[in-house]
Amino acid sequence: MHLDMKFETRAIHDGQPSDPLTGAVTLPVYQTSTYQQEGIGKHKGYEYSRTGNPTRKALEDALASLETGAFGLAFASGSAATVAVLQMLQPGQHIIAGDDIYGGTFRLLERVYRPWGLEVSYADTSRVDSFTAAIRPNTRMIWVESPTNPMLKLADLRSLASLARERGILLAVDNTFASPFFQRPLELGAHLVVHSTTKYLNGHSDVVGGAVVTSEEAVYQPLKFYQNAAGAVPGPWDCWLTLRGLKTLAVRMREHEKNALRLARFLEQHPAIEQVYYPGLPNHPQHGLAKSQMSGFGGMLSMELAGGLAAVERFLSRLKIFLLAESLGGVESLVCYPPRMTHGAMPPAERLQRGIKDNLLRLSVGIEHGDDLEEDLGHALG
Ligand SMILES: Cc1ncc(COP(=O)(O)O)c(C=O)c1O
Repeated sequence: MHLDMKFETRAIHDGQPSDPLTGAVTLPVYQTSTYQQEGIGKHKGYEYSRTGNPTRKALEDALASLETGAFGLAFASGSAATVAVLQMLQPGQHIIAGDDIYGGTFRLLERVYRPWGLEVSYADTSRVDSFTAAIRPNTRMIWVESPTNPMLKLADLRSLASLARERGILLAVDNTFASPFFQRPLELGAHLVVHSTTKYLNGHSDVVGGAVVTSEEAVYQPLKFYQNAAGAVPGPWDCWLTLRGLKTLAVRMREHEKNALRLARFLEQHPAIEQVYYPGLPNHPQHGLAKSQMSGFGGMLSMELAGGLAAVERFLSRLKIFLLAESLGGVESLVCYPPRMTHGAMPPAERLQRGIKDNLLRLSVGIEHGDDLEEDLGHALG
């Protein structure tokens, strides 16, 4: 790892030295399930690809470097990474999750872990005192997204980290929306970072994957054990594609942000839009916090359309570039309707409580030309 070097350089080189056998500049796809041993227990560090694979190892090291952590672990999806982290808890223990989280994480907490015996409660992501008030004697983990999906709320990560550390609680941060290019929770004190690498890290909407990064041996060891024991690992091809995506993360994120800021400003003054949620707008209630814990505001924004569901349907049917699709963080612009898509797993009352109204749309702003994206939105709203 070259933590003395800049992010852009590490994204291209860390974890990926040229191949010692051939000199190949690009790391090979080690498409193998097993490894020949010279004698019993005598091998070159790899025995079986569920336990370890060189292409996966390269991805894990690269991800650790970008999050400035000591250890990276890759999983078959962001949800598999989430499960690995939740498996550090025991039935009878308590987790406090931020109120605005990916619908699939909510579904895991409510439909898998609550029946399993985990006590689950929610706190207002944007208020540290709401987490303090929710702490019980058996609280073992705080789980937040920042910015959140889909309301783009922020958690004060520095304050949450000191609260968690004072009270002997683990702070897990899902950093999928910001990516390590704009935010590094471990540097702000979090114990571990979770990613759906499906999104910005891979960046090309062609791989589903996940990761956990930590600097703490006591967090890494149980996760590493679980990764091998449960086996929800990504294949070497997916790791290779994600590594290829990572190399351009910095250039992509700058373009995502440039376009998102432009569109947020455009939408903010558009008469067909009631509300825009983007941490880069000065009127975002946590704009100051965003500037203090992030180095940029990312490529995600949400908005409420005047005219309710009918207006939403009309808008979606008139778009030409923005594609109606689940997911986010790819080079292409996507639009999603959270009440029926990403947050369809959440009961309507829970959704409304979190501010997810029936006229909410989420945009993953891609890196097409900003002129074309603005024209597309303007036309669809017109
Ligand atoms: C913030 C966030 N975390 C986790 C996930 C789950 O990741 P995956 O779809 O790779 O399982 C998603 C997926 O949309 C997400 O948006």
